[in-house]
Amino acid sequence: MRFDIVSLFPDFVAQLAAHGVVGRAGERGLLSIHGWNPRDHAEGGYRRVDDRPFGGGPGMVMLIDPLQAALQAARAADPAPVRTIYLSPQGARLTQAKVRELAALPRLLLLCGRYEGVDERLLQAEVDEELSIGDYVLSGGELAAAVVVDAVARLLDGALGDAESAVQDSFEGDGLLDCPHYTRPVEHALGPVPSVLLSGNHAGIARWRRQQSLGRTWLRRPDLLDEAALSKADRSLLADFKTRYLQALDEPDGDA
Ligand code: ADE
Repeated sequence: MRFDIVSLFPDFVAQLAAHGVVGRAGERGLLSIHGWNPRDHAEGGYRRVDDRPFGGGPGMVMLIDPLQAALQAARAADPAPVRTIYLSPQGARLTQAKVRELAALPRLLLLCGRYEGVDERLLQAEVDEELSIGDYVLSGGELAAAVVVDAVARLLDGALGDAESAVQDSFEGDGLLDCPHYTRPVEHALGPVPSVLLSGNHAGIARWRRQQSLGRTWLRRPDLLDEAALSKADRSLLADFKTRYLQALDEPDGDA
């Protein structure tokens, strides 16, 4: 998969590509990331990329022409069809379902705004979709673009060491939160590992994990439970979790 990122900070893009899952996926040829700086497409000695907003007000607005030229140069660099996404707090909220949709595409062109915004006419003419990573305001789209690249890259075939681990993530498959995880040592000053995980009873372990997923989702993101299609067995596991959780609240030493 090919990612093109239009940004005033192309070094940031290079850094992003160098580490972790995204970096390894790049080394394995699963993806490539290319930065495009609108300043390289700006006119005049100052290579100006922004100007004051019409109608007054604080801040600067990014000019149409350098952005349009950078987008066009990025598109022309590869013949594969490309979806152009503008990162902004006004966009639709990024979800794991959207990430999955994007991971099936051959190319993404991510446009990062700076300052107070981007001339609306450029967005109307050049952008297919606007995405937000949450209800807060960043000083630019770069961190949001990094989030999109990371979330998409780890879904590409072969990007994760263990192909199962993406399937078991929170939000994947059934839309529930992930269960807790433990590793060595078994005994630690911070507490023991739940004994079922050491039992070798695979059905028992699967049931415990499912119950923990259901219970955590109920405790932390009950809104997700409304959307999840729970089986009869799920409902009974969750009812049992709730009973034990509420009992433990009454007994301060309990461990639900
Ligand atoms: N740019 C600034 N804030 C943002 C946000 N919350 N999501 C995506 N892009 C942004």
